[in-house]
Amino acid sequence: MEQLLRAQLHTKTLRAFGSSGGGCISEGYAYYTDTGPVFVKVNRRAQARQMFEGEMASLEALRNTGLVRVPKPMKVIDLPGGGAVFVMEHLKMKSLGSQASKLGEQMADLHLYNQKLREKSKAQQNTVGCGAEDAEPRGVTKFGFHTVTCCGFIPQVNEWQDDWPTFFTRHRLQAQLDLIEKDYADRETQELWSRLQVKIPELFSGIEIVPALLHGDLWSGNVAEDEQGPIIYDPASFYGHSEFELAIASMFGGFPRSFFTAYHQKIPKAPGFDKRLLLYQLFNYLNHWNHFGREYRSPSLGMMRKLLR
Ligand SMILES: Nc1ncnc2c1ncn2[C@@H]1O[C@H](COP(=O)(O)OP(=O)(O)O)[C@@H](O)[C@H]1O
Ligand SMILES: [Mg+2]
Repeated sequence: MEQLLRAQLHTKTLRAFGSSGGGCISEGYAYYTDTGPVFVKVNRRAQARQMFEGEMASLEALRNTGLVRVPKPMKVIDLPGGGAVFVMEHLKMKSLGSQASKLGEQMADLHLYNQKLREKSKAQQNTVGCGAEDAEPRGVTKFGFHTVTCCGFIPQVNEWQDDWPTFFTRHRLQAQLDLIEKDYADRETQELWSRLQVKIPELFSGIEIVPALLHGDLWSGNVAEDEQGPIIYDPASFYGHSEFELAIASMFGGFPRSFFTAYHQKIPKAPGFDKRLLLYQLFNYLNHWNHFGREYRSPSLGMMRKLLR
């Protein structure tokens, strides 16, 4: 791999440093190169290129807002024996702590960013004789993303949709349940899902949802900080409902209360927030069931029952 990296990164220097390690999905390595330190994620699955391309597109989209700090993505490279590597800027990170409320503010600003672009674009359309509107991005009007992104290693369809409940039900919940059906054919899950599906629209009645650019997998293992401030990484971005982002953040711990307080100061909870959060947490339990197996069956079914109450 080192030979491949030297050639692909056009660097004479390639010196490993730090301890290699990784996350839940890929192995990670750090190297000094001619142009600075890089972090290299290695994954030998056949779909690794698709996974890393989704991560790269997500990092680029987040970075382009200028509102959150992410590692600068550099290159996806195929491995000769199958799989791929993803090279990005190396950042020296420590666990999120003192920067948690700052991250809450930044995530809220990120979630409001597209709405602000939309408002600006509408205002410009109403301004007669303003010829510069095409120079500005207009914001996104639908839910989805321009490419597949993977939450964990499962590829997610991001085809653009006008309606959020339809997008979320079809491309998130149903997609996970299809995989569960294939692997487990679980009768109880099928029954609960057929009852739950019809109840989903009422969870969204009366609220307006503007597409928001999301990190898409904001658990404590994908956030950090350094002396400059908060850092987020390993995203699976798409334009969706901002509340979706808070589901995994509030499930597995690691986010101080100050994160949520700061977030909700900028984006207050809408009516029905708590129940929708359960629906979004259900997605994460199903996704965990598909990644890590049966131990997530019981929390998944428990969540469906809770939602049916
Ligand atoms: N750009 C980076 N610079 C330095 N360390 C990183 C970088 N990205 C990730 N890491 C380290 O590697 C770990 C796993 O990274 P992550 O991207 O979450 O992998 P996975 O996709 O396997 O979950 C992180 O928790 C962090 O410690
Ligand atoms: Mg990760």
